[in-house]
Amino acid sequence: MKAYEKLLRSNKDWANSVKEVDPHFFARLSAQQAPAFLWIGCSDSRVPADKITGTDPGEIFVHRNISNLVVNTDINFLSVLQYAVEVLKVRHIIVCGHYGCGGVKAAMTQHHFGIIDHWLKNIKDIYRLHREEIDAHQTEEERVNALIEFNVREQVFNLAKTSIIQSAWKKDQIPHLHGWVYGLKDGIIKPVCEMEAGSAIDPLYQYDNLG
Ligand code: CO
Repeated sequence: MKAYEKLLRSNKDWANSVKEVDPHFFARLSAQQAPAFLWIGCSDSRVPADKITGTDPGEIFVHRNISNLVVNTDINFLSVLQYAVEVLKVRHIIVCGHYGCGGVKAAMTQHHFGIIDHWLKNIKDIYRLHREEIDAHQTEEERVNALIEFNVREQVFNLAKTSIIQSAWKKDQIPHLHGWVYGLKDGIIKPVCEMEAGSAIDPLYQYDNLG
């Protein structure tokens, strides 16, 4: 059997096992989705949003990219954000990074990788902002992990800077924003920051004319 054929066979087994436990599962979910969470995670194959949080299909709306970035010119991400906030009305948005993230490691080097350099520049900017504190760590692993935590904090702040979030905070008092980091070595998620809906942000980024 070819490698990809195993996926299709496993899929049939999975669908059958779900139907055994809950015969109406697919009929119910195909009618509508009402997830309470938007997950912004790394594309890394070792960090599957639903598996590590023990959630089922229908519970988490997911966007993943390299190093879980919230980039204000990324039309793909902004479309996901707007739909999740304005249509699905998710209550929580989770930015989940992970220790040992290859994208963050790459951003700390001077190596030219190609097209991805443009993406990684967003992370270099965060390193520059917190360079002293990050470089004070003894080992390379600690420095990388420190930047991974700063990165998650910055992406949560980037969310708060969008008019999509600020409008929703004003109208609906949701969503709440969370920054988490997942540990590849122990499977445990560490919460590193939180912004309740309506949190004060630097006035420079606060729109004062939202409806
Ligand atoms: Co990663």
